[in-house]
Amino acid sequence: MKTTIIKLHLVTITVFTPTWVFSHGGENHVKSIVKKEPQTKSQDIDTRKEAYQKINDAYLVDIKPIFEKKCFDCHGDLKKSPWYYKVPGIKQMIDYDMREAKEHIDMRKDFPFVSHESPLKDLKSIKEIGLEGGMPPLRYILGHWDARLSEAEKKSIVKWSSESIKRLQP
Ligand code: HEC
Repeated sequence: MKTTIIKLHLVTITVFTPTWVFSHGGENHVKSIVKKEPQTKSQDIDTRKEAYQKINDAYLVDIKPIFEKKCFDCHGDLKKSPWYYKVPGIKQMIDYDMREAKEHIDMRKDFPFVSHESPLKDLKSIKEIGLEGGMPPLRYILGHWDARLSEAEKKSIVKWSSESIKRLQP
């Protein structure tokens, strides 16, 4: 009996703990705000228009369809609120996740993403996700089993981000 209660508790904690408890998000946040250099970023986008264009062309064909399915609920617009959105407390958590996610990377306007990091750093974080996982957050996957990235999708993400990193690296 006791173990069942403990197990149930663990599930509750995993499912209902806001992402920030697990994530490095908060820490990152502060650091990147200090490092933020918006001018450098837009200058870079200006002088390397062609590279950005090519990266976005490939993004639209190979990556956006994956992100639309698996990332846009948080990094884009939530298409359909899940039924539990109405549960008191849960709504706030989902709203928090979506706000926090878009503050890191907002994918609504394609590449380069709106982000407080440079496009190069964004690509590196995305490549890491392709290699090691970490997104979507576990909490989200628990409610959306099909949101997990498949091996094929991970491969496409790694391929696109590696090629794009090469294009942008000086
Ligand atoms: C349930 C909402 C949710 C979904 C779905 C989601 N993310 Fe996130 N994402 C977040 C939140 C919240 C953060 C900020 C906190 C953190 O880093 O965990 C974040 C941060 C990120 C970051 C920045 C990480 C860093 O190092 O700063 C990247 C890149 C990212 N997500 C990519 C993705 C990709 C790619 C997908 C789809 C495969 C995805 N996310 C799906 C919520 C989500």
